[in-house]
Amino acid sequence: MATATAPPSTRWIGSRKLLNRGVSSLRTVPRRVVVQVKAGAYSDELVQTAKSIASPGRGILAIDESNATCGKRLASIGLDNTEENRQAYRQLLLTTPGLGEYISGAILFEETLYQSTVDGKKFVDCLYEGNIMPGIKVDKGLVPLPGSNNESWCQGLDGLASRCAEYYKQGARFAKWRTVVSIPCGPSALAVKEAAWGLARYAAIAQDNGLVPIVEPEILLDGDHPIERTLEVAEAVWAEVFYYLAENNVMFEGILLKPSMVTPGAEHEKRATPETIAKHTLAMLQRRVPPAVPGIMFLSGGQSEMEATLNLNAMNQSHNPWHVSFSYARALQNTVLKTWKGRPENVEAAQKALLARAKANSLAQLGRYSAEGESDDAQKGMFVKGYTY
Ligand code: 13P
Repeated sequence: MATATAPPSTRWIGSRKLLNRGVSSLRTVPRRVVVQVKAGAYSDELVQTAKSIASPGRGILAIDESNATCGKRLASIGLDNTEENRQAYRQLLLTTPGLGEYISGAILFEETLYQSTVDGKKFVDCLYEGNIMPGIKVDKGLVPLPGSNNESWCQGLDGLASRCAEYYKQGARFAKWRTVVSIPCGPSALAVKEAAWGLARYAAIAQDNGLVPIVEPEILLDGDHPIERTLEVAEAVWAEVFYYLAENNVMFEGILLKPSMVTPGAEHEKRATPETIAKHTLAMLQRRVPPAVPGIMFLSGGQSEMEATLNLNAMNQSHNPWHVSFSYARALQNTVLKTWKGRPENVEAAQKALLARAKANSLAQLGRYSAEGESDDAQKGMFVKGYTY
């Protein structure tokens, strides 16, 4: 039986036991339900942080590539993967004048959280001055999941509480944990359960240490399946994620989601229009995501810059119970990198390119974007089979 002090998950198990005794026992469930809201030390702050990130016309710039992935970005413009080059690139992005008008948060890799500009100003301070909340990638990447169908699981729970506490001291106010689900590999029930449980444990730990968790089970674009299959898998994955988030007493008002859009597999014979993608994605979210969640910040997943913006715009043609916005990496960085080419004389033009993409997505968040005048680069897809982040 429920008591005033029992944690919510214990109460839930208690009621289940009663329900399992048969329909007649339903009448024995006490009428007065004690509603408990878990009030952690950071509850109010978490709600405020999530709200400020999910503010109208703004979204997240994801630049949390691990050193290895950042190396791939730099190699694409002929640069070596040195700390100096990573710093120069991040400086270009994070010191873009006026970025805070369209960008509410920036997800950083650990190296960047502790790094400074070449003039010695901490990147975190640049962000706060620009009205952008610093965030931090806290997962430790994917490894093979034994007993599954060639699937993976995400590492990083060991020591996570102390790392989160340390990141908070450094100025981070939100966190990201990305795990993946592969449709061509099944997905197996084991992989989905592991992904959901890991995300929920991470979310509870991040909240306990003052960081708003971004919950990101990326359903990879890989595969030749139709959009209906993606919808089916996405519904199953998010059902499981919310089941475990609730079981871990995560406060929904203090989280943000980072879903993949519901699209056909990248190798499917037919492309879908932004309207079709919006219809399927919003159907999935409406069926699975409680309105207590303040923001849905989509990943771009290998879509072209323009596709990602058009799809977001289509989703904001209707009134949604949550802020529906972006947390793009590739779809915000592609043209920037190509414009910069590693040359100091191109920094200003590259920053203008970032601002243009950020503004386009800001308009899409408000449902007011038009693709007129977009460059050829913005229309080029960036899908890479089996992409690792
Ligand atoms: P993309 O927008 O490139 O898919 O990035 C996803 C991501 O998780 C970055 O934080």
